[in-house]
Amino acid sequence: MVSNKFARLVSWSLLSIAYTQAALLSNIADIPTNVQFDFIIVGGGTAGNVVANRLTENPKVQVLVLEAGPSDDGVLLSQVPYFSAELVAPSQYEWNYTTTTQPGLSGRAVPYPRGHILGGSSSTNWLVYTRGSSEDYDRYAKVTGDLGWSWKNLYPYFKKSERWTAPVDNHDTTGQFTPSVHGYSGEVGVSLSGSPSAIDSQVITASSQLGGPFKFNQDMNSGNEIGLGWVQSTIKGGSRSSSSTAYLAPQFIARKNLWVVVNAQVSRVLQTSRTADSVDANADGTADATGFVPLFRSVEFRNSAGGPLKTLTATREVILSAGAVGTPHILLNSGIGNSNSLTSLGIRPIVNLPDVGENLSDHPVVATAWFVNSTDTTDNFRRGGQLLDDVLQQWQTTKTGPLVNPILNHLGFARISGSLAPQPDTAAGPNSPHYEYIVANGGPPGPTPPTGNFMTMVTVLVSPSSRGSIKLRSNNPFDSPVIDPALLKTTTDKLAMRASLKAATNFVTAPVWNGYIMNRAGAFADATTDAKLDSFIAANTGTLFHPVGTARMSPKGASNGVTDPDLRVKKVSGLRIVDLSVLPFVPAGHTVASAYVVGERASDLIKFFHKL
Ligand SMILES: Cc1cc2nc3c(=O)[nH]c(=O)nc-3n(C[C@H](O)[C@H](O)[C@H](O)COP(=O)(O)OP(=O)(O)OC[C@H]3O[C@@H](n4cnc5c(N)ncnc54)[C@H](O)[C@@H]3O)c2cc1C
Ligand SMILES: *[C@@H]1O[C@H](CO)[C@@H](O)[C@H](O)[C@H]1NC(C)=O
Ligand SMILES: *[C@@H]1O[C@H](CO)[C@@H](O)[C@H](O)[C@H]1NC(C)=O
Ligand SMILES: *[C@@H]1O[C@H](CO)[C@@H](O)[C@H](O)[C@H]1NC(C)=O
Repeated sequence: MVSNKFARLVSWSLLSIAYTQAALLSNIADIPTNVQFDFIIVGGGTAGNVVANRLTENPKVQVLVLEAGPSDDGVLLSQVPYFSAELVAPSQYEWNYTTTTQPGLSGRAVPYPRGHILGGSSSTNWLVYTRGSSEDYDRYAKVTGDLGWSWKNLYPYFKKSERWTAPVDNHDTTGQFTPSVHGYSGEVGVSLSGSPSAIDSQVITASSQLGGPFKFNQDMNSGNEIGLGWVQSTIKGGSRSSSSTAYLAPQFIARKNLWVVVNAQVSRVLQTSRTADSVDANADGTADATGFVPLFRSVEFRNSAGGPLKTLTATREVILSAGAVGTPHILLNSGIGNSNSLTSLGIRPIVNLPDVGENLSDHPVVATAWFVNSTDTTDNFRRGGQLLDDVLQQWQTTKTGPLVNPILNHLGFARISGSLAPQPDTAAGPNSPHYEYIVANGGPPGPTPPTGNFMTMVTVLVSPSSRGSIKLRSNNPFDSPVIDPALLKTTTDKLAMRASLKAATNFVTAPVWNGYIMNRAGAFADATTDAKLDSFIAANTGTLFHPVGTARMSPKGASNGVTDPDLRVKKVSGLRIVDLSVLPFVPAGHTVASAYVVGERASDLIKFFHKL
């Protein structure tokens, strides 16, 4: 499908109009050669587009975004909320990664989806909007020695990025969220579900019948995350709201100083030769013999698969926003990482930062399902045919109906109690969860069985102790990286996952489900002992797609870590990282809200640093 933006651009190129306006481009050659970029942002993903937007508020600042994937414009699977789970399949919108064999998953390798599209993973994710626990952020402040990362200081940035929006069915939302904790004039649409699900009232009744880990929480985005509540999603007017649709909306992409080039994959950042004006007295780290630290303000990229390599240099900074897989991949290819490992791969080491690619933490997830005594579940239209055609037509004509919802209506967070709790505690604090449960009125994501109606509960280990890594496969920057998310690697995590699964699935014991929830479905039916549960978990756990930590921040002057708390890469100048790879721990929630808040705070840090 040819997008309007592209159509406009193509016609400009064909007509060779003498002026070119900043825009969404597919060819770098369409930017006049006299434009000097103050900032080059690598990756037009979730956080990258926030920075692109905020920096170009100042018309004097020229910003270039290089995004490896195609435009998201007109991509139906990205727009329709209920279709979000389809986007994990290999396609041009996916990096198509697979993990190494995972010892914690009885040696299986699992798919490792990452968005390869403008908007990054915010254009392909499952739309759940959770900020995590206030203690997650207070822990970032503590381990970085910078109070700017505390919940209290980030709270205004959560609101700044958010535009709370009424659900499309305009139902009475009283008691389903807390208005005061939301933002109403930001960019990213956030909404409650816009189409009721048949089990909504039973879920709320079960919460009050059971209490404990299922007690009701009116708004888990208040900082107090624990309990069960109504899902909030990055949805506006029945469609996905992403960092592309929000931060690169038409009024922003029209700015004359913002240039976004898609199909542009960056291979490396390169050392830039020094001129008198490039001395960065504030750079963190050790100066070389000449009194300088290496300056990295150039990027090497290609604008088409197999195309020639090109180089561009920014006058102020290169900002890496390629995500928790892409950013360490680029750093390592650039000679920034563990010098010994780089040498053994035939890459000239330039800066020894052994933590690049290390300390990856991610959320293991396992789905369980039950047959239900009902025909009113999403399984019906998910099987395709006329029912699917009908709900899609409803979405296309009126932006209403079941496809305006994400794949769940409720979720909750809880702590493992008593002797089964991880020791020492892996959660960010005593009010932070160990696990999450998701409740859905239909079968789990993936192919729907030909018959049957289901209820699904998904259990997620949100405070894992395992740490994985991103490494290079070869010295070819276009080779995919070696991804080891270390899912359930530690015994602590294995035991915590079993305890979490048992606790979460207790939800079906609420009296309200009598006569509704029937037998366990699939392999879960046989998982009746601890040993069998462990085998079920090993055979069925995957990722919830939340990697962080691979370029983690640490205190100013600390020898470990990859960036300082201002997100500048240690031991170099001109290079900053703005994406989730900087978070030293994975937040105990879905991570997109954290990516937006990192982007918002980083934008202010950059403006302050350069007095913009
Ligand atoms: C399938 C899936 C489902 C998810 N579900 C949810 C959910 O429901 N709720 C939630 O909160 N979170 C969810 N997440 C996680 C969340 O979306 C991510 O944590 C977040 O979007 C990451 O933001 P980021 O800016 O760090 O990286 P990204 O948004 O991934 O951006 C990185 C960008 O850089 C580009 N890039 C990478 N390498 C290069 C290169 N060499 N050159 C140029 N460009 C490059 C990529 O194509 C991408 O556009 C999900 C993620 C996935 C993949
Ligand atoms: C992912 O796989 C699909 C289908 O095989 C392919 O079309 C697409 O180009 C691949 N993505 C990348 C980034 O290589
Ligand atoms: C980070 O990773 C390094 C290398 O694997 C490891 O030695 C270190 O303990 C990790 N640090 C944290 C905080 O996980
Ligand atoms: C299924 O539900 C109906 C009422 O909706 C009830 O009469 C019937 O007993 C239920 N079946 C089972 C097996 O519980």
